[in-house]
Amino acid sequence: MLSPKISQALNRQILLEAESSQFYLSMASWAETQGLNGVAAFLYEHSDEERMHMLKLIKFVNERGGHGIVPALKQPPTNYKSVKAVFEDILKHEIKVTAEINGLVDITLKEKDYTTHNFLQWYVSEQIEEEALARLIVDKLKLIGDDKSGLYFFDRDMQAMTGKSAKEKENTNQN
Ligand code: FEO
Repeated sequence: MLSPKISQALNRQILLEAESSQFYLSMASWAETQGLNGVAAFLYEHSDEERMHMLKLIKFVNERGGHGIVPALKQPPTNYKSVKAVFEDILKHEIKVTAEINGLVDITLKEKDYTTHNFLQWYVSEQIEEEALARLIVDKLKLIGDDKSGLYFFDRDMQAMTGKSAKEKENTNQN
């Protein structure tokens, strides 16, 4: 059974994951309107992954006698200055999410809830990957700068990364 404190903290994380999903969905839609179909595909997929992070939390809370609350969401930004600005925002956002996950892990230790502590380790590893990927993409975009053909190839690379990462995730989930 979850303590009210843990339940509340997990519900806050549900909100954050839902917000992340909306945030990336809005970025994907913007990228699509810019003709950046590879970037859009990557971001649509990323949005789905965040929804999966949210669902996993809702189910965990419910399984342990709590109630996973589906939250109301704010309208995310609709326009972006550049692809680089999009990925800089993603990196900032993921750094914030990592800090929140770490705070959550800390609460489970204080509350001696080792089951939730164990459950959260998946999120700890996921955040390391997400931050590293966002950092890598921002670095690539810094190299490309204003080079239009560089952006064209970047968009193709993002398209190529998209299906692969979904398949890898599927395999991980099956193991
Ligand atoms: Fe669910 Fe991008 O953290």
